[in-house]
Amino acid sequence: MQTERMARNAVSLVLPLLMSMALTAAPQSAPAGVTQAKPAQHVAEAQRGTTPAGAAAESEERERDWWKNAVIYEVYPRSFQDSNGDGVGDLNGITSRLDYLKALGVDAIWLTPVYPSPQVDFGYDISDYRSIDPQYGTLADFDHLVAEAKKRGIRVLMDMVMNHTSDQDPWFLASRSSRDNPYRDWYMWHDGKEETANDKGAPPNNWQSEFGHSAWQWDEKTRQYYYHKFYPQQPDLNWDNPKVHEAFKQIIAFWLERGVAGFRFDAITTLFEDPKPVINAFGEPQTDGFKTEFLPGVHTVMQEMRAWCDTFDSPSFPGTRVLIGETYMKNISSLDEEYGTREKPEFQLPMDTQLAFINRCDVSAFRTKIHEVEDGIDGNTPLLLFDNHDNPRLDVRYGDGVHDTAIQRVLATVLLASRGAALMYYGDEIGMKTTPPKRIEDVKDPMGITGWPKEKGRDGERTPMQWDASANTGFTTATAKPWLPVPPSAATINVAEEEKDPNSLLNWFKALTRMRKTVPSMGAAGAETLIDNDNAKVLSWTRKAPGEASVVIAANFTADPQTANLAGEDAGLKTAQLRTLLKSPGGKDPISADRIELQPFGVYIGQVK
Ligand code: GLC
Repeated sequence: MQTERMARNAVSLVLPLLMSMALTAAPQSAPAGVTQAKPAQHVAEAQRGTTPAGAAAESEERERDWWKNAVIYEVYPRSFQDSNGDGVGDLNGITSRLDYLKALGVDAIWLTPVYPSPQVDFGYDISDYRSIDPQYGTLADFDHLVAEAKKRGIRVLMDMVMNHTSDQDPWFLASRSSRDNPYRDWYMWHDGKEETANDKGAPPNNWQSEFGHSAWQWDEKTRQYYYHKFYPQQPDLNWDNPKVHEAFKQIIAFWLERGVAGFRFDAITTLFEDPKPVINAFGEPQTDGFKTEFLPGVHTVMQEMRAWCDTFDSPSFPGTRVLIGETYMKNISSLDEEYGTREKPEFQLPMDTQLAFINRCDVSAFRTKIHEVEDGIDGNTPLLLFDNHDNPRLDVRYGDGVHDTAIQRVLATVLLASRGAALMYYGDEIGMKTTPPKRIEDVKDPMGITGWPKEKGRDGERTPMQWDASANTGFTTATAKPWLPVPPSAATINVAEEEKDPNSLLNWFKALTRMRKTVPSMGAAGAETLIDNDNAKVLSWTRKAPGEASVVIAANFTADPQTANLAGEDAGLKTAQLRTLLKSPGGKDPISADRIELQPFGVYIGQVK
């Protein structure tokens, strides 16, 4: 997770939908999923040679490369849809909403952890890696979800938490039972400083947990400390132990064989620690992050996991197994390293958090980060995102309280009209607002309990998905008590309302995902070029696939109207006539690329005729 959470501001004005949006991209009936995998039968036919070789090769490539242009949707299962009225979302709830996700143009869903867990960190403390927490359902419900998702061309990705387990995991229970238990060295045990028979001594060093206080927890029974990067109930595994590697390979195999299409590797950069004391020039112990994060062993582990995942192919849903990394890297060159090399690949899709957390509508900052990712990752596929379950939502980080919906259209455009895979967080498509608890007694996230009132925790971005204006917003039964309260904004910000409104944010997202699949230059083959690079107000770029018409995208990053001239440096655009594919509500259709008029935070997308 990101270590510095944004201080929240109190902006929450609902922008009246003043403008009318033209959705001229493609007919509603356009076939979804041009880039999605074909059913296995087609592959079998192709292999038998019953389809032309060219088409077969193309379809095979599409399946292999499905992730390169994928729209991945993060589902926080507790909060997405409750099917049994206990106020907590579950797997059958997700299954019941698959048609919605298909209509949104989603290619894959990433489920945050649904494994059995004491839920100290809401699933990120796993006590059994091969099952489903009864709160969320059963393995049979999981198989049903995967099968139903597959029918709709949607793949399922799991969260893989390898940094730590729950303190209730049988491995840890064994490990803490005695110093000579065979599982002892699966975790990071350490003597206290200056230990004596009667005294536990001080923690081995002054490392701090991500969630506050010392990262070392004293264990009275065996009289040693164990290390926990996160909560004390999340002891860190010892990745210097080859048995830990083997155990995770078997867990990964278990889920791949069940048909999952890949994993999001949680907190991956913190897998290794180097507890050898280093004394700085002032004679003090050196405790910088470089001793607990980004250690080189992470690369070795990910090369191993990638090679392992690459050996799996499921006839029921062919295509590459994809490894996504929770990679909050310091800069683009360290992000580049997360891809590995051609000989030793690591993640296909390490998250580009550089762009995600600029946290202000600043054209030049966006341009810099987009340039960097285009130039700095050696032709690999970027995984763009703006949001997740650990950070305040976009209203807080990018909104101005007046133009929030228009700003979120701009962000959705950067996310979905750029080259690469796109990762979105549930509720972003309708503009859900961060709604933190008002009283400490209502806080659920232990981070908020520890940090209150300065740090209110992550409940505010995990509130129930807003489906309609009914009591409990369609998330659970009207009489149930949802695990987190439904925000008041659900009265107007909800799927049912936005489905009806052609100018809604939801319909903007749908238009963009449809365009990715139906306009060739907006697909994986569409190269991206930033243009009009001196413009401090409008971010513009083109997409062009070989032999296909270019697409021009212009997004106004300011609260004032702007006119962009995109005919400048790009010869192809000098005389170009444009056909509008999508524009913000009330926006104008330009005749040519030299005069694109944009409203405050307005967006224009046009195809060169
Ligand atoms: C990741 C998760 C976060 C969790 C932490 C510890 O950062 O995204 O939610 O608390 O890991 O597992």
